[in-house]
Amino acid sequence: MSASKTVSETKIIGLPLVYRGKVRDVYEIGEEQLLLVATDRISAFDCVMPTPIPHKGAVLTALSKFWFEHLREVTKNHLITADFENMPEIVRHNEELRGRSMLVKKTRPFPVECVVRGYLEGSGWKDYLATGKVCGHSLPANLRQGDRLPAPIFTPATKAQSGHDENINEPEFASIVGAETAEKLKSLSLDIYQKASKYALTRGIIIADTKFEFGLDKDGSILLIDEVLTPDSSRFWSADAFAPGKSQASFDKQFIRDYLETLEWNKQPPAPALPNEIAEATTARYLEAYRILTGKKL
Ligand SMILES: Nc1ncnc2c1ncn2[C@@H]1O[C@H](COP(=O)(O)OP(=O)(O)OP(=O)(O)O)[C@@H](O)[C@H]1O
Ligand SMILES: [Mg+2]
Repeated sequence: MSASKTVSETKIIGLPLVYRGKVRDVYEIGEEQLLLVATDRISAFDCVMPTPIPHKGAVLTALSKFWFEHLREVTKNHLITADFENMPEIVRHNEELRGRSMLVKKTRPFPVECVVRGYLEGSGWKDYLATGKVCGHSLPANLRQGDRLPAPIFTPATKAQSGHDENINEPEFASIVGAETAEKLKSLSLDIYQKASKYALTRGIIIADTKFEFGLDKDGSILLIDEVLTPDSSRFWSADAFAPGKSQASFDKQFIRDYLETLEWNKQPPAPALPNEIAEATTARYLEAYRILTGKKL
């Protein structure tokens, strides 16, 4: 991959920035399209780090594109193009957007996160410890942290404007999106997870859990939107190293989390700068995730 410079924040003269998330800058292109720009920002412990991760934005973009294509038969999606040469001129004038931008159909996003869990970790594990269930799903007793679930479960959450998303049960989910849509989003999410996780396993990666977002296009079709099955939206584990009964090393951010744990930092902003070798090791992991999953070098 070419040595492009890192991008922490973008500004496109002449295009309105409609949203700046922890990772993406979102611009409006006319009435019907958005430009999603994946920067090289990284967050850990819900806090954006001051040090960018080289190539991270490119990996998130290329991996989402790969999955949209791979999942074409399971779901419609919002992607118009991730090919820089096919972007509107105003975008092509900004070389720093190359390789990190997706031109997408603007939708009305459902204000929910469609989470699928195949393994017991994170807030699912905490819930299981406290209640013996995960978001109301009954599970066998004596599961260990990281164990594979008997079958993947759908555990939606609200999309909180600020801070932590909150898990909701299926009736609450249905009251937000409507009963019919709730059924569709659930079965789409499970189908997508099923197909993707089966494929990933053939490449040696366990997709422990993941989060999808969906939106309605102007014709009323449900589209898969946002990023898909990236290390930022999913827990990827190495199948070889999988050993339930403890927390599994996450594929991407483990170096950063481990490093931050050695500091006195109280996990409130501002976050400390990352040493070069930590940033480089993190880049290597993102590139590696892409290479393993797609079989190609970025
Ligand atoms: N096709 C689409 N139509 C409308 N909105 C979209 C579409 N695709 C993605 N989005 C929205 O664009 C935003 C992407 O930004 P990003 O992922 O950086 O932020 P976030 O996940 O909402 O918040 P944060 O990263 O700060 O936790 C999300 O709010 C997502 O819902
Ligand atoms: Mg997001």
